[in-house]
Order: sequence, then C-alpha cells, then structure tokens
Amino acid sequence: MDIIECIHTRRSVRKFLDIPVEWDKIAQIISAGRAAPSAGNLQNYRFIVVEDEDMRKQIADACLQQQWIGKAPAILLVVDVPDLQKRHYGLRGEKLYSIQNCAAVIENMLLTAHALGLGACWVGAFEEEMLLRILKITGTARPQAVIPIGYPNETPPEPPRAELYSQVFIETYGNRIRDLDATISRYSGVWEREAKAGKKYVEKKAAKLHERIKPALIRLREKIKKKFKKKESVTN
Ligand SMILES: Cc1cc2nc3c(=O)[nH]c(=O)nc-3n(C[C@H](O)[C@H](O)[C@H](O)COP(=O)(O)O)c2cc1C
Repeated sequence: MDIIECIHTRRSVRKFLDIPVEWDKIAQIISAGRAAPSAGNLQNYRFIVVEDEDMRKQIADACLQQQWIGKAPAILLVVDVPDLQKRHYGLRGEKLYSIQNCAAVIENMLLTAHALGLGACWVGAFEEEMLLRILKITGTARPQAVIPIGYPNETPPEPPRAELYSQVFIETYGNRIRDLDATISRYSGVWEREAKAGKKYVEKKAAKLHERIKPALIRLREKIKKKFKKKESVTN
C-alpha cells in the first residue's frame, strides 16, 4: 500500500483479536513516530509500551472507563516532555510546538500500524493525574495520547468528513471555492497530464491519417505539376 492509500484507508479501530502484537512491529511503529518532524529537532517525546493485563485495565479506567482500550493486546503511550521545548522557544515551545510535535509522532504511528495490518486508535480522553500515577510519570512530562494497538476485529466504515468547500479557501480566509472544477482548472497536474496524453493521441491520429492519405496527396501534387507544365507550354 502506498502512503496516500494508507492515509485514506486508516480508521480508528476499537475492537481487536486476541492475538499478541509482535515486538518487531511495535518497534517499527515507534521508529516511525521518532521519524516525525519536531521544532528545532528537539524530539520532546517519550514512549511507554504496556502489555501487562492489569496495567491495561487501569489505563482503560483512566481513559474515562473506555473499557475496550484494556482489551487491546498492547497500548503505546506518547509522553510529552515540554521542558525541552520551553528551554529553546519559551511559551510558544512549551504550549504549542511540544504538542504539535507529539501530534506528528502520533499520526506517523497510526499510519504505520495500519500499513503493518494492525488497528489502532488515538485516545485523548483521559484523567491525566490517574495516568501519571499508573505510569509513574514524573516532573513536567505529560501523556499526550494513549494508543491501543492490535490486530483489528472490525472494519470501521469511512467516517463522514465535512464538505471540502467549507474547509478550503482560496487566497484569503473564508473565501470559499464555489466551483471546484473551475478552481481545479486554474492549474492541475491531472489536467496537464491529460492534455499531454491528448496531444500525443492527436499526433498519433494525425500521423496515421497522413500515412493513409499520402498516396492521394502524391497523386494530387503530380496533377498540379502537370497542369502547371501544360500552362507553361501554352504561354510559351
Ligand atoms: C486528539 C484526539 C483524541 C481522541 N480521543 C478519542 C477517545 O478518547 N476515544 C476514542 O474512541 N476515539 C478518540 N479519538 C478518535 C476519533 O474519534 C476519530 O479519529 C474520529 O472519529 C475520526 O475517525 P477515524 O480516525 O476513523 O478517521 C481521538 C482522536 C483525536 C485526534
């Protein structure tokens, strides 16, 4: 599956088969998380892998009793270390970049899980204090996401998305695309490719046609030549 297909077919999976997730797959998912961009390349995130059944139940309780979470064979947690960003970028680093960096990590992990045939879900509804206690997180580090992972036992349908025109603006905020086709025709790789293909098609057709009418053209040229010769001899 290519990356674009992976992005469009990923779904939040909340039902899992009772099969453990191989460690090499967990390692690949974490590795993909670590490959995400981060402001100043400060990599202000840590990962916790939880497989222990009792711990998983406690985490599910901390996630506002979302009990399905405890049934996932593995739970990955992305923990933010905002101090790393605060030191370099002040308030913006602490309150914005650190969270954005973790979000990029989380999405990479979800996509990789999907590409590996696993199901996962981004869980953000949790009692932070409870998670800090269960996972023995210290200092200013804060959990950003709980990610239950396992082999999927459901195929969730594509969730509805808002209308494109309500989300995409041209040139200025709020300037909606009323006619998407007209907008696309401003410049589109698809149109350009099709135009090139069309040009090739026409050239091919023209070449074929030329071959077909070539004898007639030659005959016509000869006829014209003869007529001119006759005219020349009359005037002479
Ligand atoms: C920040 C964030 C928090 C979320 N928290 C939860 C959650 O606590 N429980 C849950 O079941 N899904 C949670 N989700 C998943 C969304 O419900 C899901 O992404 C959305 O319905 C779209 O479905 P899709 O992921 O299949 O495209 C969360 C997603 C995000 C991005």
